[in-house]
Amino acid sequence: MTANLKLFAGTGNSELARAVADELKIDLGGCAIARFPDGEISVRLQESVRERQVFILQPTSPPVDTNLIELLAFADVCRRSSAAQIVAIAPYFGYARSDKRQGKRQAIMASLAANLVEAAGIDHLITFDLHAPQIEGFFHIPVDNLTAVDVLLSALQENLPPETVVVSPDSGRIPMAMELARGLNTSVAVLHKQRQNGKETDVTHVIGDIKDKPCLIIDDMISTGGTIATSIDVLLQANARPQIFIAATHGLLMENAEDNLNHQSVRGIFITDTIAAKQLDRLQPQRVSIAPLIAQAIQKMSIQSN
Ligand code: R5P
Repeated sequence: MTANLKLFAGTGNSELARAVADELKIDLGGCAIARFPDGEISVRLQESVRERQVFILQPTSPPVDTNLIELLAFADVCRRSSAAQIVAIAPYFGYARSDKRQGKRQAIMASLAANLVEAAGIDHLITFDLHAPQIEGFFHIPVDNLTAVDVLLSALQENLPPETVVVSPDSGRIPMAMELARGLNTSVAVLHKQRQNGKETDVTHVIGDIKDKPCLIIDDMISTGGTIATSIDVLLQANARPQIFIAATHGLLMENAEDNLNHQSVRGIFITDTIAAKQLDRLQPQRVSIAPLIAQAIQKMSIQSN
């Protein structure tokens, strides 16, 4: 079933790529990725991909531009080496938050990234919990926007106290919150968030009953942790029980995220491995693996091609 496919790992999350290869019981494809002294990238395949179905696992996580260019370079070499089909697995798709013009003179980077992916010769994209599902519309190739909600749910079910309310930190995350709440058989609360800038957010309203209840704050991504920190403060001011859990698909954990999440009321943090693990001093998030989901997706695609 997997005879015709090749799986290559970019440098963005080689640990996840190895976990997927283990699930599939295959070896990763051989390749040499190097940088010239001036920073330019060189990607060389060490085996033939002629007429093969090629999967390239490379999240476009920080450093976003570097990882994106590496993915494009990988696709280019596969196309020039006569691969039959090139599938990019970008478990985290960078620039997804830039999906519209906020002002008059602003680039829509998610659209540009989609154009670049296609121009490089990628035939199919597999990703997880896109910031906004409609980003799929920027692509003219098939996009599988998979979700980590089920694997998060399995981890959460064993760890949450009774009566925990699932909290969406903004309107964009309501569908994810509702799905988790359905699985946990509990209710949802929604915060009304307004972003001041890339790092600061304001929450003005709490919609739903959280009084004296433990809360699970969910999000698609945790970047600086500012959204989560503000949400914790607002929930506690509104008399939620100081028993807060956090779950997100993408743990970017940039800048002072560790400080922001290291709150005395936080009882557990659950993230997936879409992004390579960060070295943390004080936090120990529980990392839930999406490797089995990626392996299943690859198997389904390879069955179709046989
Ligand atoms: C925003 O709409 C996203 O869904 C996340 O809430 C946000 O990007 C998280 O960023 P930060 O952790 O920096 O607040």
